[in-house]
Amino acid sequence: MEIITPIQAMRAVRRAEPELSWGFVPTLGALHEGHLSLVRRARAENDRVVASIFVNPMQFERQSDLQAYPRTVERDADLLNAEGVDVVWTPDEAEMYPPGFQTVVDVQAVTRRLEGEHRPGHLQGVTTIVTKLFNVVRPTRAYFGQKDAQQAAAVRRLVLDLSMDIAIVVCPTVREADGLAMSSRNVLLTQEQRAAAPVLYRALSEAVRAWEAGEHQAEILRSWMKTRIESEPLAQIDYISVADPDTLEELHGPVDRALLSLAVYFGDVRLIDNMTVS
Ligand code: PAJ
Repeated sequence: MEIITPIQAMRAVRRAEPELSWGFVPTLGALHEGHLSLVRRARAENDRVVASIFVNPMQFERQSDLQAYPRTVERDADLLNAEGVDVVWTPDEAEMYPPGFQTVVDVQAVTRRLEGEHRPGHLQGVTTIVTKLFNVVRPTRAYFGQKDAQQAAAVRRLVLDLSMDIAIVVCPTVREADGLAMSSRNVLLTQEQRAAAPVLYRALSEAVRAWEAGEHQAEILRSWMKTRIESEPLAQIDYISVADPDTLEELHGPVDRALLSLAVYFGDVRLIDNMTVS
């Protein structure tokens, strides 16, 4: 496995084997089984696999969140090596954001609600860095997690709208035994918060079960989840949504397919999760 930092070196490795299929897994590092599930899928479907590790400052709205973000690059490299990854790309911040940087990629409607509304600028930071990473790696396929459903929807839109010849593969959310979606942020929870956090999974599962039992009213599904989360004193709701899975528009009345999603604070730690019904 090669570990590469300069853009030119990454380009050179890619250019040397143009005829092979290249799978790409972009990450912020602090890897867990959720990331590794994408890597395994990429490994199974491509001749070469590249994973990037870059804590992208542009997608953090709060300096404190950027600073608190866990960084475990050496351990990450060992995990990627064990999964048979060919190249780990760890871009340099100064090279990714050269002096005078002023170009952003803005996917419009899909990024305006939910995360876009509650974390202004976050998704623009994501779509900008993903475009840059794609431009250097030029993957055949790129792998994203359903855990960040709106991010995946925005990247799908981006690739379609900008005519990028890249297949976007979205992989299921990997969870802890108690249902908590794996996230690099979970390590920031106190013991009490960690014990309370599976309430997100329970609220979503109960709403899915209600939907399956015939309760299709968006308002009722939302208030069901709200009541469940509010029953947990350590949880502070940021948003609860029942939305169209493609456009992310909030739905009203009876729904036959929907993305149920929520963002909840435990102290300073913000967790997101989602499930779909169809
Ligand atoms: P990061 O949070 O490190 O996640 C990297 C990829 O892993 C994303 O596609 C995310 O959806 C996926 N992932 C995270 N937790 C998961 C889980 N529990 N199950 C399945 N997949 C999971 O998302 C980002 O980084 C960044 O925004 C990035 C795309 C790298 C751009 O900077």
